[in-house]
Amino acid sequence: MIVARSILKVRKIIKKAKEKKKIVGFVPTMGALHLGHLSLIRKAKKECDFVVVSIFVNPIQFGPQEDYKRYPRPFKKDKKILEEEKVDLLFYPTAKVMYPQNFSTYVEEVSLSKYLCGKFRLGHFRGVTTVVAKLFNIVSPDISYFGQKDFQQAQIIKRMVRDLNFPVKIKVLPIVREKDGLAMSSRNSYLTSSERKKAAFLYQSLKKAKVLIKQKENPQKIRQVVIRFIKEKIPESKIDYVEVADPSTLESLKTIRKNQKVLVALAVHVGGARLIDNILVKI
Ligand code: PAJ
Repeated sequence: MIVARSILKVRKIIKKAKEKKKIVGFVPTMGALHLGHLSLIRKAKKECDFVVVSIFVNPIQFGPQEDYKRYPRPFKKDKKILEEEKVDLLFYPTAKVMYPQNFSTYVEEVSLSKYLCGKFRLGHFRGVTTVVAKLFNIVSPDISYFGQKDFQQAQIIKRMVRDLNFPVKIKVLPIVREKDGLAMSSRNSYLTSSERKKAAFLYQSLKKAKVLIKQKENPQKIRQVVIRFIKEKIPESKIDYVEVADPSTLESLKTIRKNQKVLVALAVHVGGARLIDNILVKI
């Protein structure tokens, strides 16, 4: 595996791969790799001839009070994992390389970003679209892989790619969960062992919502039941939101129609971790 820290080096290597007509697959990450990340990398290895992974904890997608400084950065361990997965190229830039002095150009999606996490993390998605646009311009992938874990992020990236004509295909893969249902996340390491046990109730709350949707319960009632359940099972939690939304617009639903796809999404603080999870239900 080649490790590149400069943009020029990535461009040179990608140019060679493309001259050999290789299909370039790309998985952007912030590191602290787990099986969720690996599911994307393994899919890329299956479908592409040359796989690039980036590890970059992107400062501009974190709010001033968020966890940028304490976000885990186990680089040596991550590098070993990627070597074992036979990743071809690891791009591991510094913040200075990505954001040189006087950096003043951003990419902003203004519709889908208004909802769900967008309401609570101001500027977060602008940070995500900007860094992903930059990474796409550096790596020039044919296919890029994202997780449904960050459903809103994936929808926003798809929209950006369509709106700005990036020549890349976006694939979104299912959420990888721990045995007890907790969605894998680099942030789960912030949880104490008692918080970690209770965090599994979040997925249970989504499964409850799914049952209620199938029983044709209305969205308001579903939100209420889910919120009550979380408050009862994890009393020390702080709920940012529980939403029953249209997966294509991310707007909250007032009623659920037949044959509609429904997204139930939540963001809940448990101890020092802000956890997100979601489930897609078809009725
Ligand atoms: P990060 O949180 O490291 O996630 C990288 C990719 O892994 C994202 O597409 C995310 O949805 C996916 N992922 C995380 N946990 C997952 C799980 N349990 N199952 C399936 N996929 C999972 O998302 C980011 O980094 C950043 O915002 C980034 C896109 C790299 C831009 O900075």
